[in-house]
Amino acid sequence: MSRLFGHKEHLVRMAGLFAAGILVFLLARALFVPKGFGTYGHYRAGALADNRAYPVKFAGRDACVECHTDVPDALKAGKHARIRCEACHGPLAAHAQDPTKAKGVKPDPKVLCVKCHLANVAKPQGFPQIDPKEHLGPNCGECHDPHVPGQEPQKKG
Ligand code: HEC
Ligand code: HEC
Ligand code: HEC
Ligand code: HEC
Repeated sequence: MSRLFGHKEHLVRMAGLFAAGILVFLLARALFVPKGFGTYGHYRAGALADNRAYPVKFAGRDACVECHTDVPDALKAGKHARIRCEACHGPLAAHAQDPTKAKGVKPDPKVLCVKCHLANVAKPQGFPQIDPKEHLGPNCGECHDPHVPGQEPQKKG
């Protein structure tokens, strides 16, 4: 016998250890790698279906103005012209799909307006902002038309 294999038990033990390590790795891999991983690339194929299954919540301005043709014309006259409908009205895809099944939502100006116009030093100085405690009253909608806010009070009928 050459001296090379004089300690062959060590080699066998090492090989056994490696084999056990590989087995544990393969088991853990089978356990933790989700189904469909790698089918299309370095991600889970089922994620595509999951994302597709998210219900669409926003309809987009183009959909709104198809039916509410008068609102964009009104908006054009004021500084809210560039704000998208659903930035104020919230997601209304269901309503746009079928107005008889889901009603449009009229936001409450008392809650809505201060979300953007509450005075805050972090806002650009040119941005119109007010302190509701010092401004003319809590019912913003009494004086301002939400679609055409203007600077002058606009009493609504
Ligand atoms: C398919 C046509 C259609 C589309 C698209 C549509 N609406 Fe409407 N909407 C209606 C109808 C019809 C009414 C009911 C009108 C009424 O009762 O005077 C209505 C009513 C409303 C109301 C008033 C609700 C109330 O309580 O008086 C709001 C606000 C509104 N829609 C916002 C929107 C917004 C924002 C969008 C875009 C996300 C949108 N609508 C898309 C047809 C549509
Ligand atoms: C700056 C916020 C804001 C934006 C932008 C906005 N709305 Fe409104 N809208 C309101 C508020 C607030 C009311 C509720 C007014 C009330 O109760 O008197 C309203 C009311 C309405 C109504 C009910 C009828 C009426 O005129 O009172 C409709 C319809 C409507 N909005 C559609 C739209 C559409 C369509 C767009 C986009 C083209 C849009 N709005 C953009 C805030 C907004
Ligand atoms: C999504 C944010 C947003 C909301 C919500 C919002 N505004 Fe505005 N508002 C703006 C922006 C943007 C401007 C334009 C600022 C500019 O041009 O410098 C503006 C401008 C104004 C102005 C100045 C108009 C002028 O002619 O100078 C008034 C007044 C105003 N808004 C009142 C309101 C009232 C009242 C409400 C609630 C019905 C409201 N806003 C809701 C973003 C908002
Ligand atoms: C009693 C009527 C009245 C009520 C209520 C009212 N406003 Fe005004 N608002 C005005 C008038 C008038 C002006 C223009 C003169 C001024 O700046 O004080 C104005 C100006 C503004 C401006 C422009 C400020 C600037 O620096 O250009 C904003 C933004 C505004 N209002 C938001 C609101 C919000 C938000 C509410 C509700 C919390 C509200 N307003 C309630 C009458 C009113």
